[in-house]
Amino acid sequence: MTQQPPAAVPQSPASTDGDVPQQPAFSQPRPAAAKPPLPDETRPPATSRLHRIALGEPIQAEIHDAVLREDAVLEFDHFSLWYGSKQALFDVSFPVARGKVTALIGPSGCGKSTLLRSINRMNDLIDSVRYEGDIRLNGESILGRQVDVIELRKRMGMVFQKPNPFPMSIFENVVYPLRIDGIRNRRLLKEVCEQSLRGAALWDEVKDRLHESGLGLSGGQQQRLCIARAIAGAPEVLLLDEPCSALDPIATAKIEDLINELRGEYSIVIVTHNMQQASRVSDYTALMYLGRLLEYGPTSDIFTRPHLPETNDYITGRFG
Ligand SMILES: Nc1ncnc2c1ncn2[C@@H]1O[C@H](COP(=O)(O)OP(=O)(O)O)[C@@H](O)[C@H]1O
Ligand SMILES: [Mg+2]
Repeated sequence: MTQQPPAAVPQSPASTDGDVPQQPAFSQPRPAAAKPPLPDETRPPATSRLHRIALGEPIQAEIHDAVLREDAVLEFDHFSLWYGSKQALFDVSFPVARGKVTALIGPSGCGKSTLLRSINRMNDLIDSVRYEGDIRLNGESILGRQVDVIELRKRMGMVFQKPNPFPMSIFENVVYPLRIDGIRNRRLLKEVCEQSLRGAALWDEVKDRLHESGLGLSGGQQQRLCIARAIAGAPEVLLLDEPCSALDPIATAKIEDLINELRGEYSIVIVTHNMQQASRVSDYTALMYLGRLLEYGPTSDIFTRPHLPETNDYITGRFG
């Protein structure tokens, strides 16, 4: 049996330490395996937090002081959620400011929609869901057994990615939240309909055809109709899950203008995968990663001078 010689390691001059003081810009980077792994304390900070998350270690979210000074409409308190055995949210704690727009951003699958759906307990509709910790609305837990979930959902207006008008007239779509409360007063219904459609910047486009089907509207109009329906119920919090992702740029701009007008009057939580949109419409931005809150602060700070190198990496497109 002949002994094979060890495989030759190809050497290039540039890969030899010492004799090449400066590598030309076009040289191949040295293969990563050639370097011994860095111990944790010398690893660049931009990789350490994400690395620790990947290892399943807990991390401390970076929450800016400005957020903590706000009056909180909602508070997540050590909130974790599982779909069966798969954990989707990990010990999330943060307040949501009243009367402000809060954007949830982060890579696809990081738990933004799960977090939003937890607020109106829509996740309860999924059998395998289990959660720990608490969520408070105006200081009161919304997760307790004593909470009337139907009543709770009435206090939240939810708008989804894909517009979902009901197969009924524009008028009936808007006044739906009042109808389910048994309100029949025609004058009141008309008043709320007009007010909500004006609030959703749709009144002028539909005022002459309120009795036509909501399904006949364009995609952008349908989404504004859904926002009108959401605000007709006078919600305490408006939850928007990527409300523009199915819309063209013109319809998107109208929804963004609308969000800007609703600010102050409503507390809005918006999930968006579009960072430009987050920076245009929100007061505060929370960056999530693999079910954790990474950093949360004033939107202008998150996008221009984030505290964490990981946030900087995300907003400059280095991951996600
Ligand atoms: N109904 C569900 N059943 C099981 N797993 C789910 C369900 N919904 C979401 N997930 C999982 O939870 C994680 C977070 O999902 P999601 O909240 O939709 O993220 P995002 O909105 O940030 O894209 C993902 O890994 C996703 O696959
Ligand atoms: Mg989502």
